[in-house]
This record gives sequence, C-alpha cells and structure tokens, in this order.
Amino acid sequence: MKGIGLLNFAIQTARDAGSLLAERFGRALRITNKSELDLVTESDLASEKLIIDRIKTYHPRHAILAEESGASSPATLEAQSEWRWIIDPLDGTTNYAHGYPCFCVSIGLEHNGRMEVGVIYDPMRDELFTAERGEGASLNGRRLHVSAINNLGAALLCTGFPYDVRERSDFARHFANFIMNAQGVRRDGAAALDLAYVACGRFDGFWEEGLKPWDVAAGSLMVEEAGGRVSKYDGGPLSIYMPPILASNGLVHEQMMRVLSA
Ligand code: IPD
Ligand code: CA
Ligand code: CA
Repeated sequence: MKGIGLLNFAIQTARDAGSLLAERFGRALRITNKSELDLVTESDLASEKLIIDRIKTYHPRHAILAEESGASSPATLEAQSEWRWIIDPLDGTTNYAHGYPCFCVSIGLEHNGRMEVGVIYDPMRDELFTAERGEGASLNGRRLHVSAINNLGAALLCTGFPYDVRERSDFARHFANFIMNAQGVRRDGAAALDLAYVACGRFDGFWEEGLKPWDVAAGSLMVEEAGGRVSKYDGGPLSIYMPPILASNGLVHEQMMRVLSA
C-alpha cells in the first residue's frame, strides 16, 4: 500500500515538473555555466524546487539528493531516514538550452539503500516510464520489456558524453570500437531517457562513464524491471554512486563487456 502511494506520488510529481519544463521550453532562458560544458538553466532550478517542495510537504521525513541542491539538510535527516529521493529535475539540459526536444524528469526512490521506485517523464512526447521493484516497468501504463536482439552486430546502442569527456581518453576508444561492432550508435543527451529506451527495447544497450546518481537511479531500476541487466563495465554489481554504467537487454551484455575491455 505504502509502495503504491509512493509510486503515484512520484508519477504526479514528475508529470507536474515535466509540464513546467515544457511550458518554458523554447523561451529565452537565463543560463549559467557550472563548468565549461555543464549548464544550468532557470528551468532546472524551477523544476527542482517544485519537486523538493512537494516532497517536503508530503514526505517531510524523507531524505533528498537532488542535482542542483545536493543532499537534504539537516544532515540528521540524511542519516535517519530509510527513504531517499534521488532527483534529476531536468536531464538533458544542453538539449533543452538549445531547443532540442529531448529531455526528461527523473525521480528515483531508495529504501535503505535499495532502489524501489523509478519514474522518468518525457513531456515532449508525453511518455511516462515507471518501475517498481518486483512489479515490472511500464510506458504509459503498458508493460515494458527489453529487446530480443542477441547479436551486437544487429544492436542499436546509445552512449553519452560526460562533461569532462575531453579528459577521458578511454571514451574515444570505446566509442570507436562500438561504431565498428554495433549496427548503430546514438548520443541523445539525456542519460535517464537513454536508460528508459533500453527498458522499452528502442536501444539494445547503453554505456557511459562519469554519470551521477540522479542520472541513473530511476533508469537502472527501469532496465532491470523490464528484464534487462545493469552492471559496471566489468559485469560487477552497479552502484548508482560509482559510475560507469553498462545497461542492456542482457543478451548483448557480455559482447558489450568485451568491447569495453579491449
Ligand atoms: C547529462 C545528460 C547527458 C550525459 C551527461 C549528463 P544533465 O545530464 O544525461 O546525456 O551524457 O553525462 O550529465 O546535465 O543534462 O542533467
Ligand atoms: Ca542528468
Ligand atoms: Ca540535470
């Protein structure tokens, strides 16, 4: 009962934050740089405020980890709460700032350190991806399953470029190797949506290094609940706090691991 209530709460909150992003999309925005390539717009901040205000109102004892404001304060809440919301209020900020309509809201909920609920909402396509541990994943209420492609040569993959990609020499090698071995490689610019697309079979696999917990919290649960696999590059168990991440339909996972180890 409690779980169902929390999933519905996450869905409503993600929908409202997504509507806020969609309303402001394409308007002139105040944009600041967090680093040379990493931007934050006023919409990131407004979406995050909406989500945090909502959690503080309805679940005041829950801890929060959100991209723009960090961990909840006071720190005692962080230490005492069994529940923790992990929020990317706008995943795909660079796309958003350029008027490229590929972005989403991502909300994950951990219970005692284990992901229990994940919601990813793309307001431009009105696509709502949801997952609840042990209950499967769905897209707009329809049950999701990963793809059945079992051969890397026939696989459509996706990756992302971390903001410090210019300092990561491994990345270019992995990228080149996947281009030579997969059917195609995409870079859409919103990691949470990339993971949701693996869950629903649009992509067969995804890899990225340097992601943050809010990029992968909801999406990693989504892939698992859709029958896929998430791990580190070497196949070891994923920690959302320790990138990199390899996510796939499970069938091309070992083939992707081999490419990543070359
Ligand atoms: C970024 C996007 C992008 C990924 C970056 C992320 P943001 O998140 O998910 O696809 O390649 O590593 O930081 O900054 O748009 O929330
Ligand atoms: Ca992000
Ligand atoms: Ca973000």
